[in-house]
Amino acid sequence: MRVAVLTGGGDCPGLNAVIRAAVRKGVQEYGYDFVGFRDGWRGPLENDTVPLDIPAVRGILPRGGTVLGSSRTNPLRAENGIRRVRENLAEQEVDALVVIGGEDTLGVAARLADEHGVHVVGVPKTIDNDLSATDYTFGFDTAVGIATEAIDRLHTTAESHMRVLVVEVMGRHAGWIALHSGLAGGANVILIPERRFDVDQVCSWVSSRFRSSYAPIVVVAEGAMPRDGEVVLKDDSLDSFGHVRLSGVGEWLAKQIERRTGKEARTTVLGHVQRGGTPSAFDRWLATRFGLHAIDAVRDGAWGEMVALRATDIVRVPIAEATSRLKTVNPSLYREASVFFG
Ligand code: F6P
Repeated sequence: MRVAVLTGGGDCPGLNAVIRAAVRKGVQEYGYDFVGFRDGWRGPLENDTVPLDIPAVRGILPRGGTVLGSSRTNPLRAENGIRRVRENLAEQEVDALVVIGGEDTLGVAARLADEHGVHVVGVPKTIDNDLSATDYTFGFDTAVGIATEAIDRLHTTAESHMRVLVVEVMGRHAGWIALHSGLAGGANVILIPERRFDVDQVCSWVSSRFRSSYAPIVVVAEGAMPRDGEVVLKDDSLDSFGHVRLSGVGEWLAKQIERRTGKEARTTVLGHVQRGGTPSAFDRWLATRFGLHAIDAVRDGAWGEMVALRATDIVRVPIAEATSRLKTVNPSLYREASVFFG
């Protein structure tokens, strides 16, 4: 059996742990051969491969990023994309393809398996934790840890100057990183894409915090939007999915707070630092288990299925179940956090 592996979409701490576990178990227990495709779907589209064997995965467990490279290339948007992918899989004599990715990358995997009978197994990844069908994705815990450490640090500088500090975290469509890091870091306001916010309400929470002689920390997800529809969109800048990029909600909000409360405000945009560096222990554990179970799914011929975490068990679900809708923060979880606002 010859197994190909690719990592697509935004990189994520833990990708290398999946690759290592899959290769180690596949070679040692089942005697499989491996090949890596470079840069997500660009690899099979352009027949660009990299050798993948035990020496190639040595020492990569704690390393961030992905040794296979990644991209947001989508063969569904390339000319004859699916045909080219299938031809190159055949040329490489690939019997099974392990696809490690988020919504977009796995969407291609589901189409290839369901409509073209390609032998694909999926592994979910995203720091945003917004993939359905799995309780957690690896990378999320690392991102929350980085954001929480930043919030801890921002508390002390905010207190020293009695300023408002607005922290913008990742999360275009779902506020999981904002919610978890905001709770863990003791934020005074948490704003998420799932619920439009009222700027006056934010300012009143900020002011009440100052009245108790504390400097407020506002955590805002990059996709959060104000209720009154004031402009935070830059519609001339599209992201690689062709979505409107929400730009600078943190900066925008800090200006509004200054204007409306008369208090000094600063913004910290954490950006890609949340995706970089070594994975947390939890993410290494989850990614390793995903890699081991993905190879068992290959052995069982579970094509079109994806490994997923349910409580402490790794289960298999149809890939399409994860890509058909996003997992967003539900209102009761957000309400639970709001006791700390203000
Ligand atoms: O999907 C993960 C993610 O990190 C989002 O939270 C973020 O909006 C996006 O990727 C950034 O993508 P890029 O690295 O392509 O700018």
